[in-house]
Amino acid sequence: MSKIKPVDLMSELVSLCKRKGFIFQSSEIYGGINSCYDFGPLGVALKNNIKKLWWETMTFRSDIEGIDASIIMHPRVWEASGHVENFTDPLIDCKKCKKRFREDNIEDKKQCPECGGELTEARNFNLMFKTFIGPVEDKASIAYLRPETAQGIYVNFLNVQGSCRQKLPFGIAQIGKAFRNEITPGNFIFRTREFEQMEMQYFVYPEQADEKFEYWKEQRIKWHRDVLGLNGESLRFHQHGANELAHYAKDAFDIEFKYPFGWQEIEGIHNRTDYDLKQHMEYSKKDLKFFDEGKKERITPYIIETSVGVERTLLTILVNAFTKEDDKNGERIVLKLHPRVAPYKAAIFPLVKKDGMPEIARKIEDDLRSEFHIFFDMSGSIGRRYRRQDEIGTPFCFTVDGETSKDETVTIRDRDTMEQKRINISDIRETLRKRIAL
Ligand code: GAP
Repeated sequence: MSKIKPVDLMSELVSLCKRKGFIFQSSEIYGGINSCYDFGPLGVALKNNIKKLWWETMTFRSDIEGIDASIIMHPRVWEASGHVENFTDPLIDCKKCKKRFREDNIEDKKQCPECGGELTEARNFNLMFKTFIGPVEDKASIAYLRPETAQGIYVNFLNVQGSCRQKLPFGIAQIGKAFRNEITPGNFIFRTREFEQMEMQYFVYPEQADEKFEYWKEQRIKWHRDVLGLNGESLRFHQHGANELAHYAKDAFDIEFKYPFGWQEIEGIHNRTDYDLKQHMEYSKKDLKFFDEGKKERITPYIIETSVGVERTLLTILVNAFTKEDDKNGERIVLKLHPRVAPYKAAIFPLVKKDGMPEIARKIEDDLRSEFHIFFDMSGSIGRRYRRQDEIGTPFCFTVDGETSKDETVTIRDRDTMEQKRINISDIRETLRKRIAL
């Protein structure tokens, strides 16, 4: 296997993502817009697979319900949550080259790391995007695009609990867009201003908080490893020190991944205590306590939160999968994606465009389409067709050849081992099912 330097890996990945239709720069024909990206056919397929896997893991259990709250909420929500006051980063400008930095990202607070120029004093910059509701742009019509999906869950805590007759401990899961006016977005889609979060808030008796916190930490790292197929050695926990904790958190662990640009957070697990519900009770003057039938008392639950970005997960999966290998034709690029997340589960090729092969191949494709996302290709040499699928991570290729019409068999070629075997057409569906579930 060829060794790829970290910096090359990122630039190779960016180029592959564009070439193959995973990710495009947003508004590219106008010169692009900084840190905004569009997801192409393969990108959106991968994203949907990630979201589906998360959603099923979270909500296919009796103690977690799903919701989909609105992006724009009452502005008081963000006063109550502490975001208006605390969701800030310290911003510093260079007086000479005009570049902007987060103060906590630079070592010498006096000199610009880019040009050596003099820096301004740090000032707090709120990361929430502001907008106006209605035709008049005044203070009374200010609204915010949500910087986290969590608050939509907290304000609906009793609606969900009551309508679904849940008892503590139980959770509410949500997938949705969030927006942050980041000072220093970057590393491709790692940090952007618009992104999607998959968040689950687990409401517990206060005395259960530590135990459930441990439980969710373990569940979540296992999910990245066993469901998404991330390499366990590239994953670790990082506990937040006192100066890293968000304003709402009593304890927090990040699940970190070893990216080409260093160990960085992929997911956060937080013990948010009763902070959020108490704040909303104070600001809304509404009671959000849970009535415990057994104990005959009203309880303000503690909240254990798990929060992970969809795009960041997608980037992680691509970094984890990107491989360059020597092969008999020189070198091949292969995305070693787990079949569960791969955009296409299989490709079907007729070896040549004659002797009835395209018709048989089309029939196989049609039969599989209702269950699997399938790619059909009959152009170019078979070797080139395999390479094209390797680059987009398609785990299996089925080739219809001269034997097929005689004995109803095709070859199956494995992306990672490049091994080929013959199997019966009638066994293709079950083979795919089994290999995806592994
Ligand atoms: N509700 C808690 C919360 O939002 P966070 O640690 O600020 O916690 C959680 O964010 C996750 O959301 C991160 O681990 C990351 O995966 C994703 N995320 C946060 N900011 C992001 C950004 N600017 N771009 C892409 N993903 C982001």
